[in-house]
Amino acid sequence: MELRSIICGVGSHLPVRVLTNAELSRKVDTSDEWIVARTGIRQRHVAAEGELTSDLAIQAAVKALASAGCAAADIDLIVLATATPDLTFPATAARVQAALGVTKGAAFDLQAVCSGFIFALATADNFLARGQAKRALVIGAETFSRLLDWEDRSTCVLFGDGAGAVVLEARTKAEAGARGVISTFVRTDGKLHDLLYVDGGPSQTQSVGKLRMVGNAVFRHAVEHISGAMLEACARGGVDIADVDWFVPHQANQRILDGVARKLGIDAGKVISTVALHGNTSAASVPLALDVAIRDGRAKKGDMVLMEALGGGLTWGAALVRL
Ligand code: UT7
Repeated sequence: MELRSIICGVGSHLPVRVLTNAELSRKVDTSDEWIVARTGIRQRHVAAEGELTSDLAIQAAVKALASAGCAAADIDLIVLATATPDLTFPATAARVQAALGVTKGAAFDLQAVCSGFIFALATADNFLARGQAKRALVIGAETFSRLLDWEDRSTCVLFGDGAGAVVLEARTKAEAGARGVISTFVRTDGKLHDLLYVDGGPSQTQSVGKLRMVGNAVFRHAVEHISGAMLEACARGGVDIADVDWFVPHQANQRILDGVARKLGIDAGKVISTVALHGNTSAASVPLALDVAIRDGRAKKGDMVLMEALGGGLTWGAALVRL
């Protein structure tokens, strides 16, 4: 019996504290003008002291469960994408599972940095399609503020904290109709690992480390690989990119969103952008943007949505879903 995964609930959560460009420009040698012109970012949310990745993930998951109209008891898989786990181990997903009261199935973290949500969605979709789980929480949650070198103006202005989650449910093809995850595409090129990395970790330095990025090189790869991933997901799904209703990109830089839209001839009005308000929240950015588009009434049940991301690894990917 062929199974299809349906997105039946979406939720997100942002820390209360907002850090504006103006405030940042009092701490490092930057300006609101530079940040807005080069990235489109105007502000980002930053977790409070003691507020952890798991706390953000739990809030987003609770909202996704409510929007799906299902209980924690119905969940039998949690895949949590993060590059900023609470601890080196156990997985942040284990903490989230316990806090939500989920008592069935597996819960694990997945590390693909900014592409994490796309990789997590593809992973959960495969579990569901094989009948190995019935209802999954797929979460992207980050406290990237904890990885930043606040003296490095070329990176500290870019990132923010947050979480987003979806409930993915297995249905038979007959039940699903046209809805569901139509195709996914994920890719890693480890030769490019030193373009975007954290210079610490348990094995190499026995420390957490700070984020380092060769920004302009990553930028060039981003436009090329994201466009390729989007076309590949459409080809795998047998869908013409012109038939996509909403593009939900990873929110790294407005210039990347614009560059990809230009390259693929996409109407800018179909691209969901939260980069101005959230900055780059890594694995959280795609589900955060999806939640915004659903809550403000743009993306509706039955719409075709194409999500995409690129991040450290380098990793990149895309997921085509009919809501
Ligand atoms: O989410 C994972 C994927 N990440 C991305 O996709 C990020 C990709 N990269 C980018 O978005 C862009 O490369 C950045 C926003 C990071 C940088 O923009 P850019 O246009 O590539 O600038 P640049 O790195 O080439 O730097 C241009 C200039 C430099 O000065 P000089 O050497 O030309 O004098 C930098 O020192 O801008 C300077 N600069 C800044 N100036 C003011 C760099 N950061 C800042 C800053 N404020 N915050």
